[in-house]
Amino acid sequence: MIPTTLMRSATAAALTLPLLVGATPTPLMKRNDTTQQWADELLRESMSWLDMYYDSEAGYLYSLSAQALTHETRASSWYAAGLLARNEGDDAEQAVKIVENVISGQFKNESSQWFGDYQKYPEEPTVGTEQYPPVIYNSWDPNWRGFVGTTFVLMLEEFPELIPQDTKDRMMESLHNATIGDSYRVGGVDDDNLYPAYSNPAIMRAFVSGWVGRRTNEANMTAAGETYANEIIDLFNRANTLSEFNSGTYAGVSLYALTMWAKYMDESSVMGQNGARMIQETWSSLGSLYNANLKNVAGPWDRSYGFDMNRYLSILALQIWTLVGKEKAPINAKPYAMGHKDDFAIGPLIAILAPFHNTLISPEALSSLHTFPGTHTVNTSAFSPPFDTYPRNITAWISPNLTIGAESFSENVIGGPAKNPNSFNPAVAQWARADGTVGWLTLYAQVMELLVKVEENVLELSYPQGNDTSTFQLLVATNSKNGKRDVASWEDVEGVKVTVEGNVDTNYEVTFNGMFGGQGDTINEFEFWNFTYGMPPGSQEVPSIRLYIEVE
Ligand SMILES: *[C@@H]1O[C@H](CO)[C@@H](O)[C@H](O)[C@H]1NC(C)=O
Ligand SMILES: *[C@@H]1O[C@H](CO)[C@@H](O)[C@H](O)[C@H]1NC(C)=O
Ligand SMILES: *[C@@H]1O[C@H](CO)[C@@H](O)[C@H](O)[C@H]1NC(C)=O
Ligand SMILES: *[C@@H]1O[C@H](CO)[C@@H](O)[C@H](O)[C@H]1NC(C)=O
Ligand SMILES: *[C@@H]1O[C@H](CO)[C@@H](O)[C@H](O)[C@H]1NC(C)=O
Ligand SMILES: *[C@@H]1O[C@H](CO)[C@@H](O)[C@H](O)[C@H]1NC(C)=O
Ligand SMILES: *[C@@H]1O[C@H](CO)[C@@H](O)[C@H](O)[C@H]1NC(C)=O
Ligand SMILES: *[C@@H]1O[C@H](CO)[C@@H](O)[C@H](O)[C@H]1NC(C)=O
Ligand SMILES: *[C@@H]1O[C@H](CO)[C@@H](O)[C@H](O)[C@H]1NC(C)=O
Repeated sequence: MIPTTLMRSATAAALTLPLLVGATPTPLMKRNDTTQQWADELLRESMSWLDMYYDSEAGYLYSLSAQALTHETRASSWYAAGLLARNEGDDAEQAVKIVENVISGQFKNESSQWFGDYQKYPEEPTVGTEQYPPVIYNSWDPNWRGFVGTTFVLMLEEFPELIPQDTKDRMMESLHNATIGDSYRVGGVDDDNLYPAYSNPAIMRAFVSGWVGRRTNEANMTAAGETYANEIIDLFNRANTLSEFNSGTYAGVSLYALTMWAKYMDESSVMGQNGARMIQETWSSLGSLYNANLKNVAGPWDRSYGFDMNRYLSILALQIWTLVGKEKAPINAKPYAMGHKDDFAIGPLIAILAPFHNTLISPEALSSLHTFPGTHTVNTSAFSPPFDTYPRNITAWISPNLTIGAESFSENVIGGPAKNPNSFNPAVAQWARADGTVGWLTLYAQVMELLVKVEENVLELSYPQGNDTSTFQLLVATNSKNGKRDVASWEDVEGVKVTVEGNVDTNYEVTFNGMFGGQGDTINEFEFWNFTYGMPPGSQEVPSIRLYIEVE
């Protein structure tokens, strides 16, 4: 077959597009027994794994990362939803017990910033005491209102007949408090970062507020939900991309929450009006970046917890599982052996929503999850105010066994809006190796401004604000199990030939970061070789490096 070159330009169409208000697409994909079967399989497998962690006496899951037999709130709520979906033996009874526990561990002081949030684990000291200070994203996590709240809504919507009325009443009271607490969140205030561009929690907050407002006839909550949602939609419509772009983990959460917009909100809400379209567009974007040969979404990744989706568990991979089956999805036969495996706990929610969600993906996007469509370039953009001075320009070149994807940006932070260089991967290449595994390289994020050029086999990077102390740190995959153990130069890197040009000093340094030694720690549980290029001393030029990458 002759490879086709698909060109996409979302940027060009930005701003001139009319809002597609009221356009709820008719189902694109008929529900069928196969996808239902895959969703059931995900439910069954994730639940059997979680069963092993369930402490029925306590009515909580033990910590999945084995924190000395403490328990965990969020995963327990997800498990409770799975118990209702499975509904065998005393499943429903256990689910109710968990829900009551989770509610009793919800913060009840209206004056505290964490009001209405859920404690992280029942054994924790009181947040806000002298000995246990309130540290956002540490001693308390503001996003858990959304994670647990959306889970409660899902249970009330899908399985009302399995929950006693008094528990349902408490769930509503809990959701009401969570909504009020979530309204305290303002990006840039009190160390909070909930801007509309923080897609996953923003989508969850809008939904819970809108849903609770409607159920309880609280016009303020309903209106707040619409306001939050409109901010998200405006940002999305610019280029039909989520601000938290292309993240194996968080695109999965955003799709989960958008499914709730589409499924549980009617046309009276902008969420009901736009949810389905946003899911469809998000999958079209992901599908265009997906390489079914490598079973990976090409870079750049705004927030990633790994460098090869076959080796870390991404929420997106669970959704792909329900769309194309486990075998063809980027998921190991033993998901709990993968990096970031605790996220397998969200499996039940993904499975419950799959039969509806899966009808919203376009046939073209679905097909690209099955079969690589041929070499193509993707041009798009994503925007995260107030961090970006202009929308991040994204270009990816995607060929059968090599993908290169990168973004130009100018931000006021290092490491993306999450200020995390370990998860912000603005320039990435991945390639197929002879044994079927995937090699990768990623630029370690150290700068506020990066310019990139991506072309067939080429990745060019420059630092407009750099100087002769700048370095390009390229983190490179370790070789496959039977490959060379030691790497001293590009020649030793398996499956790829890399030629480097530019005004960098061509004498590069190679170090190793490993689990048990080397120069430093692993990142996202991945070991890597660190190829670092510096500048010739005294150079006055804008630091720039050009990699020519070929598969061997
Ligand atoms: C995509 O971006 C590349 C690199 O910036 C550019 O050469 C190409 O013309 C763009 N294609 C489209 C369709 O916008
Ligand atoms: C059901 O969906 C799967 C996956 O998309 C597809 O392979 C299969 O052909 C579909 N079956 C029918 C009867 O439509
Ligand atoms: C509630 O929080 C406020 C503000 O932190 C504090 O002053 C007050 O003592 C708390 N009330 C209780 C009952 O803990
Ligand atoms: C909700 O918040 C109020 C304080 O406004 C508190 O009295 C009540 O116990 C909370 N309910 C739950 C379920 O936490
Ligand atoms: C609704 O919001 C308005 C404006 O913010 C406020 O004045 C009013 O007290 C709110 N009402 C309720 C019931 O919260
Ligand atoms: C970003 O893309 C736009 C539209 O293609 C282009 O006009 C602009 O020059 C690009 N900016 C950078 C910094 O790449
Ligand atoms: C790369 O792709 C080419 C052509 O599609 C194929 O012949 C070759 O075997 C592939 N190499 C690897 C390592 O997959
Ligand atoms: C070079 O860049 C570094 C990092 O941005 C900065 O700390 C340093 O001051 C710069 N040096 C000069 C001479 O501008
Ligand atoms: C990569 O190596 C350079 C040079 O040794 C070092 O300064 C840098 O911290 C390393 N980067 C990472 C991410 O470990």
